[in-house]
Amino acid sequence: MMLPVVFAGVAAAAAITNRQLPTAPDPLSACPGYTASDVQQSAHGLTASLKLAGTACDAFGRDIEDLKLTVNYDNENRLHVKIEDAKSIAYQVPESVFPRPDASASVSAEDAALEFSLTESPFAFAVKRKDRYWPSILLLLSAAADILNSGEVLFASGAAPLVFEDQYLRLRTALPKSPNLYGLGEHTDPFRLNDTDYTRTMWSRDAYGVPYGTNLYGNHPIYFDHRVASGTHGVFLLSSSGMDIKINQTSDGQQYLEYNVVGGIVDLYFLAGPTPTQVSQQYAQVAGLPAMMPYWGLGLHQCRYGYRDYYAIAEVVANYSEANIPLETMWTDIDYMYDRAIMTTDPDRFPLDRVRQYVDVLHDRHQHYVVMVDPAVAYSTTRDKNQSYGTFNTAAEKGYFLYKDGAIFQGVVWPGVTAYPDWFHPGAQDWWNAELVDFFSADKGVDIDALWIDMNEAANFNNFGEDPLETEKSGGFPPQRPALRDQPRPIFGFPAEFQPGSSPYPPDSWSYAPPWLAAPSDPNHGKRQASSVSRKRQTASPLVSRKRQTTGPAPNASAIGFPRSRDELLAPKYQIQNANTVAALGGLSNKTLDTDIVHYDGHVELDVHNLYGSMMSTASRNAMLARRPNRRPMVITRSTFAGAGKHVGKWLGDNLSQWDQYRFSIAGMLGFAALYQVPMVGSDICGFGGNTTETLCARWASLGAFYTFMRNHNGDTSIPQEFYQWPLVAESARKALDMRYRLLDYIYTALHRQSVDGTPSLNPLFFVYPGDAHVAAIELQFFYGDSVLVSPVTQENETSVSAYLPDDRFYVFDTWEKVEGAGAEVTLDNVGFTDIPLHVRGGTVLPLRAKSGYTTTDVRKEPFHLVIAPGRDGKASGSLYLDDGDSVEQKAVSEVAFAYDGQLQITGSFDYEGRVSRITVLDSGGCASDGCEYDETRRVATYTMDMKLGPVTLSV
Ligand SMILES: *[C@@H]1O[C@H](CO)[C@@H](O)[C@H](O)[C@H]1NC(C)=O
Ligand SMILES: *[C@@H]1O[C@H](CO)[C@@H](O)[C@H](O)[C@H]1NC(C)=O
Ligand SMILES: *[C@@H]1O[C@H](CO)[C@@H](O)[C@H](O)[C@H]1NC(C)=O
Ligand SMILES: *[C@@H]1O[C@H](CO)[C@@H](O)[C@H](O)[C@H]1NC(C)=O
Repeated sequence: MMLPVVFAGVAAAAAITNRQLPTAPDPLSACPGYTASDVQQSAHGLTASLKLAGTACDAFGRDIEDLKLTVNYDNENRLHVKIEDAKSIAYQVPESVFPRPDASASVSAEDAALEFSLTESPFAFAVKRKDRYWPSILLLLSAAADILNSGEVLFASGAAPLVFEDQYLRLRTALPKSPNLYGLGEHTDPFRLNDTDYTRTMWSRDAYGVPYGTNLYGNHPIYFDHRVASGTHGVFLLSSSGMDIKINQTSDGQQYLEYNVVGGIVDLYFLAGPTPTQVSQQYAQVAGLPAMMPYWGLGLHQCRYGYRDYYAIAEVVANYSEANIPLETMWTDIDYMYDRAIMTTDPDRFPLDRVRQYVDVLHDRHQHYVVMVDPAVAYSTTRDKNQSYGTFNTAAEKGYFLYKDGAIFQGVVWPGVTAYPDWFHPGAQDWWNAELVDFFSADKGVDIDALWIDMNEAANFNNFGEDPLETEKSGGFPPQRPALRDQPRPIFGFPAEFQPGSSPYPPDSWSYAPPWLAAPSDPNHGKRQASSVSRKRQTASPLVSRKRQTTGPAPNASAIGFPRSRDELLAPKYQIQNANTVAALGGLSNKTLDTDIVHYDGHVELDVHNLYGSMMSTASRNAMLARRPNRRPMVITRSTFAGAGKHVGKWLGDNLSQWDQYRFSIAGMLGFAALYQVPMVGSDICGFGGNTTETLCARWASLGAFYTFMRNHNGDTSIPQEFYQWPLVAESARKALDMRYRLLDYIYTALHRQSVDGTPSLNPLFFVYPGDAHVAAIELQFFYGDSVLVSPVTQENETSVSAYLPDDRFYVFDTWEKVEGAGAEVTLDNVGFTDIPLHVRGGTVLPLRAKSGYTTTDVRKEPFHLVIAPGRDGKASGSLYLDDGDSVEQKAVSEVAFAYDGQLQITGSFDYEGRVSRITVLDSGGCASDGCEYDETRRVATYTMDMKLGPVTLSV
């Protein structure tokens, strides 16, 4: 989380200031472009030399005279186009962070679905779709007749001359009018991107309130271009450099998309599709297949910033069970730490013994526990009671932190002055492993089940050029610890130490510790003083040079990439629209790491800034595996780069308790799950910042039940919003969780499939109905899996929603009433505050659990209830994947296929046991055998049985 409110207005102001910067005459108009020569056909593509075609314009750096172009048909559906400087000096995303996709199945140009063509002078290239691949998708798209328009041009760089400088790249493609473009996250802008006057900036940023139209925490430079009847393709620019991607029209109406990148190279992957799902699958081959998360991770998670002590944690757990709202996992934010220092516990509010005790209670009940860890390490050699702070000391001694001008770079995060791990240091992983293995030891530490990592953009409360010690003081870091208290109420189900009278402090009735309640009578007040004294003492130590050097030698010669002066690293001439930038010098470094920092291996922070969160993600997943080698790690991060889904899940950051953010959460989630291959994703339910309302939280509880990652979380200054706080919200949560938990294996199967071949587990409507032009802009409805259409009420105080039903057959979830979609909007009325409309797409066999349970462990004991929802052709199909839900290597799995065509056929492998207790056939003419009840009005036949899941054909 971040400091609330204070920075929100500032970010917005910064964005406005940016846009008001006076515009000089366009320095790019004089850029000469390139001429291609020496074009050599290769077995799987071609190479060519590019030479600057005139006088250098040096618009935002120095033009590079000689370039080389490499084109490779990586496989039938993927084309790789790389333009780099002839000497390969320019920075390229390191293989260690983004392993290059497998090109061992490269094909000849003739065998590829896409066609690359080039014009030598002025140099330009185009990527076309070949028509002869269309017949294979005639079956998939309904508007079959339109498809035969051949040779669709997907990308045409002739729209503007290529500019390739040491600190700036410009590449523009012409596009058809009114394109349907998606992706280029992370953002909170419309799911279908604006086509005019639109800038998407890529620069990781701690973005409190996830403001509209600004750069946020992570970066995924891939877009999907959906041309309905002419197919869908994807374009991925493999670059971690800061950039502005502009989507706009020229004054004479030519539509374009333009990359403006602060360095690096042009490294493009074209994905042929032609269906949206295939583009996702093809992108997964480039970015990597997402990690499978543990089954329990799909349960309900409860968190907040401001659970002040172990009583607060225990009480929330007890309140959930008293309210009979299934709670799977309890979380703790940075409150558990001693003065906000990672790898410590507060000895009074979260003493390790008590923490271990409540974790034991949770584990005994098959519940789970998760805490937050930040990358920044308190710049302190000691922690409480003058114990040595090994986390800092080891990394400082071994040089694992980031350095600037020979001293550890200092920022300010929650504990005050901090140092930042350098993930490029070859020793950093082992250090991080050792820290996590020790602190989160099952035998003597905080025995977490999953890990939450935050502030990894990397976030820094210290503005560029300010004195960290001053900022620590003026910002009051670490914040005052809340007063100690005795628990005022008995907490059912917890040991004596958690009951009233077990500690010598006065009771108070507040579960939380918002600042306005943090009494000054802190019995341990003196400790903070002591710790800041000890921090001050370090100022004199030789390890520490607190003075920031504003001038100094340029980074050493071993820096990777084109040599750039310090000013060029701090203030690249092309200024991207980073919302934290006010002044050019240091604007990119503002509230993060200084961009002139050179990492241990020579990488320059300006080039690798956008990788920090993903590198911490990988290191953290590895550390969790070192801690529990046989169990699937679940790591939830804030900052991501392309490919992060291989290692982590993602929550959508510090949103606000507002209706627009409730609505936006759908597009945010779909971006990560369907476009960026990070399928474990969700927003903070009921909102993080500000105060929620009863009806917003009630609606959000039901919508959140259809996020893959379902967590209620809010900030320390917000009112409590656990689902039991209001009867309406509790009821909404119970009803939605009942549906979610019955559907757990359905979504787990979808997540498994995505981890195997990249098929999205959550789907925008245009993924399921690519031929229907009306669904291209829909962002308030989505498919959970590919068969359950979710159409939440999206306006405050409304109890109806206008939802689009594609031209297909649907069934209302649970009542199983048949609804014929007409490819039109319908009004769904009387949707109470505890309800959410769900429709099952005809053609589906849905494997439900027969009943929900309090925990996912209980749910897994239930047999299956198969719901057969025939399509208009009378057929249905579905699948089910079963395993133990937790092991990295599975001993036994079942992969089951269901096919219905008057009879239900079950085939597949059945090594992991499952049972079926009920089969419900929708739109049925009557019972086909014994043990069946038929409801004539609803046309629903229900068969009861006790059947082991195995190969069988049933008349139902
Ligand atoms: C979009 O193009 C128009 C001219 O056609 C220009 O005035 C405007 O500044 C451009 N917007 C962006 C974000 O580049
Ligand atoms: C997108 O376009 C709409 C309509 O022109 C505009 O109101 C909105 O501000 C634009 N959004 C962004 C993020 O540019
Ligand atoms: C950093 O952000 C602050 C606002 O929070 C602003 O006052 C300052 O000018 C910015 N610094 C730079 C270098 O952009
Ligand atoms: C949230 O509610 C609390 C308690 O009523 C109040 O003190 C606080 O100012 C509210 N916050 C906002 C952002 O309205």
